[in-house]
Amino acid sequence: MMRVAVIGGGAIGLRHLEALEELEELEACAVVELDETIRLQLARRFGVKAYAGMEDMLAAEQPQIAVIALPHHLHEEAALLCISSGCHLMLEKPMANSTASCDRIIAAAKRQGVTLMVGHTQHYLPENRAAKAVIDEGSLGRFLMAQDTRHVDYFRRNRPPWFFDRESAGGGIMMNLGAHSIDKLQWLTDSRVRKVKASLTYLGDRGNVEGSGMLMLELDGGATGTSTATIVQSGYKGASRSETELIFTNGMLRIVAGEGVYVSKGDSYEKLALPEEPLIPLALQFLDLLASLRSGSEPECSGSYSRSVIEALEAVYLSHESGLEIELGKRESG
Ligand SMILES: NC(=O)c1ccc[n+]([C@@H]2O[C@H](COP(=O)([O-])OP(=O)(O)OC[C@H]3O[C@@H](n4cnc5c(N)ncnc54)[C@H](O)[C@@H]3O)[C@@H](O)[C@H]2O)c1
Repeated sequence: MMRVAVIGGGAIGLRHLEALEELEELEACAVVELDETIRLQLARRFGVKAYAGMEDMLAAEQPQIAVIALPHHLHEEAALLCISSGCHLMLEKPMANSTASCDRIIAAAKRQGVTLMVGHTQHYLPENRAAKAVIDEGSLGRFLMAQDTRHVDYFRRNRPPWFFDRESAGGGIMMNLGAHSIDKLQWLTDSRVRKVKASLTYLGDRGNVEGSGMLMLELDGGATGTSTATIVQSGYKGASRSETELIFTNGMLRIVAGEGVYVSKGDSYEKLALPEEPLIPLALQFLDLLASLRSGSEPECSGSYSRSVIEALEAVYLSHESGLEIELGKRESG
């Protein structure tokens, strides 16, 4: 049984604690949370020790795994601290606010010999897993292009304020939810973003982060060659929507989040039957970390893979500010 500490007891920290309850191989031992009310509530509900500071928790508990579920600007500091205590990491997405930060986390984990996994939850959602299985099976042919659309009320009143502060969050809807879309497209199509042209708007009624983005991406992948994708996200008013359409030489595939996956190889779409999955997505995510720890292999969402998402996001902001298309890998990491 490995002992796990959850650092940050907000919206997703709570979900991690729930996921840990589903798993026999892992046991939550502690929660670190600044807010005393939340800290004590979580400690009572999950039967774990509560701490206000990371150092105290690490010294007293010596957990084997730390989950970092903090505001984005704290990811690096927390990761380096936990790594230096010898913890394996489940670090929430986005990995950090810059590629330079990612590089420092990756180097520290390597030096210490601990496993670093980033919580790219898209890999564990039932629709996405079903879509990935169809794509990997190969009958859809060569991947050509994709469009990913997401609308949410990003400026909702109950979103914690740090999400609207560029220093803390690293950006707005693109940094937070665009990270999911970039990861989803790269993972589903086994490709990497190579070029980015982006246009953002800053029209939210709170903070200084972007509230919408239109990204035009060029992707490349070993098996699939060069392909293109658009990501459109809006965080202003209107009904929520999250859809991804992928187009291949032999057919098309649509993922409608929370609804289903549709595949078309002829005149109509067929809705896929999704397999029953007893575990929740964040529990499956922990099982992947455990599998890596047992086999000694890098997780799918390794530091270097997750850095690729941050590199694409850096290019998004640079492209918007400069009006230019940005080619990845051609810039100094800053
Ligand atoms: N994988 C997903 O689908 C998913 C979903 C939601 C959030 N996230 C990510 O999880 C992370 C946290 O997001 P959230 O929505 O839970 O935010 P949140 O604001 O709800 O939770 C963050 C918590 O950290 C606490 N905190 C802040 N500074 C602290 C410190 N120094 N020590 C201890 N506690 C501290 C805050 O009090 C807060 O309770 C972010 O990286 C976010 O992008 C991922």
